[in-house]
This record gives sequence, C-alpha cells and structure tokens, in this order.
Amino acid sequence: MALMAGQNALALEEQSFADRTISAHTGKPGELLGILENLQDHHPNKYLSPEILEYVAEKTDIPLAQIYSVVTFYALFNLEPQGEHTICICRGTACHTRGSRNLLQRLRLELGLPEESEEGADKVCLTTPDRRYSMRTVACFGQCALAPVVEVDHEIFGHMNERTLHRELEHLENGRKKA
Ligand code: FES
Repeated sequence: MALMAGQNALALEEQSFADRTISAHTGKPGELLGILENLQDHHPNKYLSPEILEYVAEKTDIPLAQIYSVVTFYALFNLEPQGEHTICICRGTACHTRGSRNLLQRLRLELGLPEESEEGADKVCLTTPDRRYSMRTVACFGQCALAPVVEVDHEIFGHMNERTLHRELEHLENGRKKA
C-alpha cells in the first residue's frame, strides 16, 4: 500500500501495524477502544498522533470527531508523547486530604517541571524535555483506603509521603526495579 499522501504520512511499519490491529478488532465489542489502546501501546512514546487517528478514521469509516471524543474522554489515552517513566498522583478527595498536593509539588520540583496551568486544572500531564518522565494526575484510583496513592509505571503505591516518593524516583533513576 502506498504511503498516505500529504505532509504527515505514517511510516510503513506504523501503517502495517495499524492495518493488522484494525483487522484484528473489526466487528468485536469495544472495537475502537481496542484499536486505539493497541496503537498507543505500540508507539515508543505511548501516545496517539494526529496522523494515526486520521488513519484509523479513514480505515474504519468512523468519523474523526468521534475518535477524538473517545480519546479525550478516556484518561488512559495520550495525545502528547509520554516519558519513559510515568508517575501518576491521585488528586481525589481522600488523597487530597492526606497530602497529595504536597506530593505533586515535590514531584514537580524534583523533575524540574513548570507549574504552568496546574492550578485548578482537572488533570495534569507534563513531560520532561528529555522525555524521561511524565507526571500525571488522576481523579481516583479506586484505592482510597491507601491514600495518598501514587502510581509509578502502572504499579500502585499506597500511603505515600515525600520521602517514599523520592525513594521511588531514585529507583527509577538508578534503573532498577522496586525491591
Ligand atoms: S481518592 Fe485517591 S485513590 Fe481514591
């Protein structure tokens, strides 16, 4: 198949993976979610580019606006390239009352990320310029008894404080798995 015309053509490998993914999910329940999840996972920076979303729209005949409404609705989808490691801090009520705001501040300082429009924002998603770390927030992990909760590379940590958060960052920096 020829590359898509225009300035934002996908790489052949990316197209080929997208074709296989679309055929594997076509006609199955949750078809679009499955396709988008697989495509995001496949990308080294774990995100969905405008080009891939356009490609999915073209191949599935699902309107692009509908695809965007799905990816913006579900917190798991990323529209920006993500860091190699992701640290996600819960800002739900239970975690907030147990200090998640301080954890967020500490993490932001440790990673050297700007405050930006964090205040009042529903969710935060910032990535360091070297794309090593992404810092995110979530409304609730559903683990409120463990508040405050932080997720590091998809692993949940409960009862976090600034010291234990710093320790987890050191583990990532040292490139080793949690002991
Ligand atoms: S409020 Fe943080 S896990 Fe529910």
